[in-house]
Amino acid sequence: MTLPSLEEKPVFVQRLFNRIATRYDALNNIISLGMHWGWKRHAVACLQLTHDQHGLDVCTGTGDLLGLMLPYVGAFGEVTGLDFSEKMLAVAKDRYNNVSNLTLVQGDAMHLPFADDSFHASIISFGLRNVADIRQTIAEMIRCTKAGGRIINLDTAPITSLPCFSWYFKHVMPRFGELLAGDKEAYQYLQASTEAFESPEGLKALFEDLGLVDVRIERLGFGSVAMIVGTKAL
Ligand SMILES: C[S@@+](CC[C@H](N)C(=O)[O-])C[C@H]1O[C@@H](n2cnc3c(N)ncnc32)[C@H](O)[C@@H]1O
Repeated sequence: MTLPSLEEKPVFVQRLFNRIATRYDALNNIISLGMHWGWKRHAVACLQLTHDQHGLDVCTGTGDLLGLMLPYVGAFGEVTGLDFSEKMLAVAKDRYNNVSNLTLVQGDAMHLPFADDSFHASIISFGLRNVADIRQTIAEMIRCTKAGGRIINLDTAPITSLPCFSWYFKHVMPRFGELLAGDKEAYQYLQASTEAFESPEGLKALFEDLGLVDVRIERLGFGSVAMIVGTKAL
């Protein structure tokens, strides 16, 4: 498929996630064979959040990471999730109906509606690939995070070494999307946006260029997923 232009991207992405919101969680479990939970658990552990702290999840979607962050911050800490899709947020709202220290905000990842240094750590998972300006999004996460806090990106990575994965992404996943979500285009977009996405090395260089320190890459899922971890300098 042809990817939308940068100008068209926000509207295209917002519509796409509004369309698939109620089927997103089930589809995620199927296409990743449940593996996304392990990657997310590991990424959240790497945030190094502790009791009474405040964590931010950018592009939170249906809020998987928020639930994983809660045990780290405890009853007196807080977690905040931001997304621009009202339908994805509606699923998250139903899920965390009675959780008083969890806040959901509708907003744009490239213009975070939070004061400087508001959070102890920030994460974006399977979201960066979808924003129109990667640099601005990471810069915003850094601005909103306290010095010494971790900034993490977890996302699919362009695969060059394993042809079977490319084949799975290109042919099997859109078919799953068509059969199970009734939305082939959404899962063609997942494959096309992954192929066009910045490499883990490129993202590491971006993190460093934006002033983050101790930046490292961890490859997961046989290289199909990469986590970039950095720390805001003291
Ligand atoms: C693939 S989902 C990931 C959801 C969740 N983080 C996860 O790991 O399951 C991508 C999410 O990013 C959101 N998104 C994309 N661009 C955004 C932007 N510019 N501002 C806010 N949310 C955005 C979409 O609405 C969608 O919910």
